[in-house]
Amino acid sequence: PPLETIINAQDFEDVAERTITKKTWAFYSSASTDCITRDKNRDLFGRIWFRPRLLRSVGHVSTQSTMLGHDVGLPIFVSPAAMAKMVHPQGELVIARGCLSDRVPQIVSTNASFPIEEIVTYVPKAAKHPFFFQLYVNKDRTQSEKLLRHVRSLGIDTIFVTIDGPVQGKREADERVKADESLITPMSGQKAKNDRRGGGIGRIMGSYIDPNFTWSAFTWLRKNWHGKVVVKGVQCWQDAKRCADEGIDGVLLSNHGGRNLDTSPPVIMTLLECQMNCPEIFSKLEVFVDGGVRRGGDVLKCLCLGATAVGFGRPFMYALAYGEEGVQHFIDIIKQELETAMALVGITDLSQCDASYVNTAELDPL
Ligand code: FNR
Repeated sequence: PPLETIINAQDFEDVAERTITKKTWAFYSSASTDCITRDKNRDLFGRIWFRPRLLRSVGHVSTQSTMLGHDVGLPIFVSPAAMAKMVHPQGELVIARGCLSDRVPQIVSTNASFPIEEIVTYVPKAAKHPFFFQLYVNKDRTQSEKLLRHVRSLGIDTIFVTIDGPVQGKREADERVKADESLITPMSGQKAKNDRRGGGIGRIMGSYIDPNFTWSAFTWLRKNWHGKVVVKGVQCWQDAKRCADEGIDGVLLSNHGGRNLDTSPPVIMTLLECQMNCPEIFSKLEVFVDGGVRRGGDVLKCLCLGATAVGFGRPFMYALAYGEEGVQHFIDIIKQELETAMALVGITDLSQCDASYVNTAELDPL
């Protein structure tokens, strides 16, 4: 269907399901075991109610914001998702171009299908577009050290270190569909294979990740990375607080879109848990969330609950099926939904967001 007929994130998803290959759909849409966390991530947004404040002048609203010191057109970012080439031959390159006009930051995965330098240089240097790098720590630390030096040399100032996948979750949809054995995974350089467990790309791709990376290894990280560090995959307030205590610059509350530990908490529960148990961290570091966000209104809810910006994983991959224009169109949709929600709630500037605009009573007993 023509792009003009796509008016929300679900439309993009429906088209992707029908048009991308069976294996790509399985890899992108899958989550671990019963997919409970993947689905609840999304459902819980519908259990938070707005508390609109009306009779305010809302003729002009602004979605401008900042993320980790960068100006952004709206408080969203592209969560790192591996192997964008499976959806579009120019994968991550095209995402970068699509994000340019609204200055939407792109977190490039260690498992991206293009080398990071190709992605960063695909947009004009003068645009100073915000790119961040997502690091999976390699069992062979010298590999990670080399990668970090390279990333730094490209002018990237922040890494997101993913901690929620010391081992990979059991993604059954991905296992069930045979992998093309000529596919080579980008970082480990391993070939996709079909074995007695199935054909899971996620499982093979994660084989280089160090399951013994711990808090104490942050000393090693600090020695090898002098820029900002955000920890991605935090799922309880104790770990979020520990990040703040360790002087980390940000936390991305995330359960990997439900792809690793099924029945790990929906992300909005983790956000509420942090608000309740360690509210002080919100002024010490930037708090981000991703997982199940599909509407501009969802973004606004997260911001009212203390998040600085909100990530989308799968939705960008589905929009990518339409190339650069699809990515741009998706951002436009979210921006318009966010502007509409802001005006209807009575907010004209995102700095006005606070918890008084949402009612979380249905979730509090959780
Ligand atoms: C991911 N995610 C991910 N995260 C990460 O840190 N490194 C990675 O390489 C990947 N790869 C990846 C591939 C695919 C196909 C998906 C769907 C996800 C997780 C991603 O960054 C993010 O946390 C979730 O996708 C957010 O959930 P939604 O928005 O997809 O519901």
